[in-house]
Amino acid sequence: MLNVVVLVSGGGTNLQAIIDAVESGIITNAKITGVISNNKNAYALERASKHGIPGICISPKDYASRAEFNEKFLETVNELQPDLIVLAGFLVVIPPEMTAKYQNRIINIHPSLIPSFCGTGYYGLKVHEAALERGVKVVGATVHFVDEGTDTGPIILQKAVEVEQGDTPKELQLRVMEQAEWKILPKAIDLIANDKVKVEDGRVTIIGGSE
Ligand code: GRF
Repeated sequence: MLNVVVLVSGGGTNLQAIIDAVESGIITNAKITGVISNNKNAYALERASKHGIPGICISPKDYASRAEFNEKFLETVNELQPDLIVLAGFLVVIPPEMTAKYQNRIINIHPSLIPSFCGTGYYGLKVHEAALERGVKVVGATVHFVDEGTDTGPIILQKAVEVEQGDTPKELQLRVMEQAEWKILPKAIDLIANDKVKVEDGRVTIIGGSE
């Protein structure tokens, strides 16, 4: 049974997709044992509580330095003994000690087809604003392992989504969530929970295919 800890900062729709997938059996062999947020007002914590999942809030704002936060944050994560850490809209930079300790055991959902519209400054609505500004016709989402960079780790799954004429950033964001994020993040967790994801030379192989 894969012990999954989910890190959140906002509304938690990706967390909800994971919770629903576990409860419906789309994700097998896994259990969400904790949710950690840097934002005490994150509705994601409400979603966790409604499903009996322990929620913890720990924010850099409550510490004198980032180094102190990083130490306490890693301690908090370690205490939950995760097999897999899922960043679901988590907006705090992961400490290098953590990416080192949990190599290929932290995954992130990014709302673009990496390597497009990713890296520092590309998060949330900004990603979709940039895609519309560039005039791309296809966008999508990516689930990838987290390494010491920003959106640079090995790619696990991607799913494309059509841009429609006249899309606003909000409309595009919702379509990418509905058609891509909320599908590939649970799928990636199920594949990992059932030992079907292998990483070699920075590239991912899915045993038995990703469908
Ligand atoms: C999503 O768009 C996700 O791709 C990005 O942050 C947003 C989180 O949304 N990483 P939610 O908190 O899961 O609703």
